[in-house]
Amino acid sequence: MSDGSHVLCRFEDLADPGSLAVSIGTENWPLRAFVVRRGEQVFAYVNRCPHAGHPLDWLPNRFLNGDETLIQCASHGALFTLESGHCVVGPCAGKSLMAIAVHVVTGNVVLTEDPDALVQRFA
Ligand code: FES
Repeated sequence: MSDGSHVLCRFEDLADPGSLAVSIGTENWPLRAFVVRRGEQVFAYVNRCPHAGHPLDWLPNRFLNGDETLIQCASHGALFTLESGHCVVGPCAGKSLMAIAVHVVTGNVVLTEDPDALVQRFA
């Protein structure tokens, strides 16, 4: 969803566990990000690996490893926790994905800050 609102997606659109690509902001260069879910918890990150800056998804909306316990970068296989985005294995071990604060409100996964401000911050 890229309508300039704070809503990234519907909570029910996320598998458990699952992930979904989203774009944030209304300008020509929206921020590419993704949302992950485990149980009732949701987390969002910029879709940019701290190793070489590549997008992480290996297929559309596929950000998780085979057993869906960790986020996996498609380029060189770095693994990150869902809850913190911290890299636990791979060439960027010890670094973290850039977290985006979200919460669930009336069934929607919602940004806690202005989307265009987020785009500027992570540009
Ligand atoms: S770009 Fe992600 S592991 Fe290399």
